[in-house]
Amino acid sequence: MLDLVHPDDDSDRGLLAHLDDEEDTLALGAALANALAPGLKIWLEGNLGSGKTTLTRGILRALGHMGKVKSPTYTLIEPYVVSRLHLYHFDFYRLNSPEEYLDAGLEEYFDGPGVCIVEWPEKAVPYVSPPDLVALLEPEGDGRRANLSGLTEAGQKCIEELAHILKQKHPPQGG
Ligand SMILES: Nc1ncnc2c1ncn2[C@@H]1O[C@H](COP(=O)(O)OP(=O)(O)OP(=O)(O)O)[C@@H](O)[C@H]1O
Ligand SMILES: [Mg+2]
Repeated sequence: MLDLVHPDDDSDRGLLAHLDDEEDTLALGAALANALAPGLKIWLEGNLGSGKTTLTRGILRALGHMGKVKSPTYTLIEPYVVSRLHLYHFDFYRLNSPEEYLDAGLEEYFDGPGVCIVEWPEKAVPYVSPPDLVALLEPEGDGRRANLSGLTEAGQKCIEELAHILKQKHPPQGG
């Protein structure tokens, strides 16, 4: 059961949720899909196996993508066109140096109106565009803790919208 820990009112720009299992991570992605705006850049942080690709899969499924969502570990990028939105899923785990990001010629994706979702962004720092929103996934019990922060006005707006959606779909469980 997805548990929205924070915010418990509409006042804050950060969001904290506990995700019991893979289904919850997909549900968070589905809610996030409904809060996306064109050009939004999202960094997915967290260790190997923390659920970054699962979250992206949840976003893409909710946007109507029927096919597989593969981890772009070797290709660096996997492009999607879903409900008239361009979504680019990146994974920079395999970069040996940040300069390889420049060599790959990926900058143009970040300048357009497509939504960019990046796993292992730290491997392409300082060259990759800064994020509007950072989602950190960490182990918590048998599940995960998701900690989302909005770093720009667009990112904060997305978080506010996401909190609103989650409260409707997953009301707090008493206590
Ligand atoms: N909330 C959750 N609780 C428990 N397991 C989860 C949760 N969310 C996802 N998982 C599981 O974690 C595993 C790894 O997920 P995923 O591939 O999405 O991680 P990742 O962060 O993309 O890893 P990598 O850094 O290697 O790309 C999967 O088996 C997935 O089912
Ligand atoms: Mg992954």
